Amino acid sequence: MTSLIHHETLRDPSRVQLTDDGRLKHFLTTEGLSAELLTEILDTADSFISTQERAVKKVPLLRGKTVVNLFFENSTRTRSTFELAAKRLSADILNLDIARSATSKGETLMDTLWNLEAMYSDMFVVRHADSGAAHFIAEQVTPNVAIINAGDGRHAHPTQAMLDMLTIRRHKEGIAGKVVAIVGDILHSRVARSQIYALRTLGAAEVRVIGPGTLLPKDIEALGAKPFYDMKQGLADCDVVIMLRLQKERMQNALLPSEGEFFKLYGLTEAKLACARPDAIVMHPGPINRGVEIESAVADGPQSVILNQVSYGIAVRMAVMAMAMSGQQSQNSSEEMA
Ligand code: NCD
Repeated sequence: MTSLIHHETLRDPSRVQLTDDGRLKHFLTTEGLSAELLTEILDTADSFISTQERAVKKVPLLRGKTVVNLFFENSTRTRSTFELAAKRLSADILNLDIARSATSKGETLMDTLWNLEAMYSDMFVVRHADSGAAHFIAEQVTPNVAIINAGDGRHAHPTQAMLDMLTIRRHKEGIAGKVVAIVGDILHSRVARSQIYALRTLGAAEVRVIGPGTLLPKDIEALGAKPFYDMKQGLADCDVVIMLRLQKERMQNALLPSEGEFFKLYGLTEAKLACARPDAIVMHPGPINRGVEIESAVADGPQSVILNQVSYGIAVRMAVMAMAMSGQQSQNSSEEMA
C-alpha cells in the first residue's frame, strides 16, 4: 500500500486543498485546516439539516454541475450519502461501477479520470485503497474540477470526521472541553486520523485512543492523542466514545489473538460503558460488527447516536461539495481577472 503517497504534498495539504485566499477548493484531509474553516463546514451543514426537513429537500446550489462518484473500494453509507447530497444540491450524479469499468482492463487511475473529465465533469468523489490517492488526483486534474476524498487507504476520511464533529456538536453542545475516546483498530483507521486532527483543532480537552499495542500507531502521541491499553481506564469520564471496526482487509500480519479475546478486552458492553460519563454518547462510523467491537445492547441502546451520524452525513457532504465548488469558481474568476 501507500504507493501513491507524495510526501511533499501530504506534509503541506493546505497548498493543495485551499484557494490562495484560504477557501476550500478540494477536500482531502482535516489536517492543517483552521478552526474557522472547520466551523464553517459545520455551520453550513447545520443549515442543510434544516433544508432537508422541508417537504422539498432540494436546493439549487449545484444546478447544472456534474458530480462523479468514483469508488475503487466498497462502500454503503459514504457512497449513498454522497449521491443523496449531490442530488439535494440539484447536481447530476454519475455513479461509476469500478468493478465493471476499464480499470479491470488495465486502465490507469489518471486515464480513467481524464476520460471522465472529458465528459465535462465538475467534481469527483474518490475512494481508493492507496493512501494519498485523492491528493495525487487533485494535483493533476484540470484547475476548475473539485476532488473530494471519500477515504484513501489508511490516511484520511475527512467527510466522515466532519459528520462525527457535527454529531458531537449537536448532541454534546459543542466540542471544546470534551473528553473523547476512540476505541479499537486505530492503526488501520483513516477515520481515526481525520477525527484526531479535527478534534484537536476544535478544542477537545482530551483525545484518547484505546486498544491493544499492536493496533495503536507509534506516532499517535505526536498527533495529539493519549494512548490507553485498558478499556475501563481509558473510558473513565469520557463524554464521547467512538468505536471502530477491526479492518481486517488492511491487516497484513496477525495482529490479534482472536475476535473473542478482542471483544472481552475492548468490545463495548453496557458494563464497560458505565465507566464513561452517564450522559456519554456512543458513535461508530459503520459498518458495525455486532459482538466483535460492540454489543447490540449498546449499539441499539439509549446512548447510541450511530444512525444520527448517518443522517448528518448527507448535510456535511452537501456543505463540503457546495463550499468546494464555490471555492473553485472564486479561484477561477480571480485568475481570469488577473
Ligand atoms: C469507514 C471507512 O470506510 O473508512 N467506514 C465509513 O466510511 N463509514 C470505516 C470502516 O470501514 O470500518
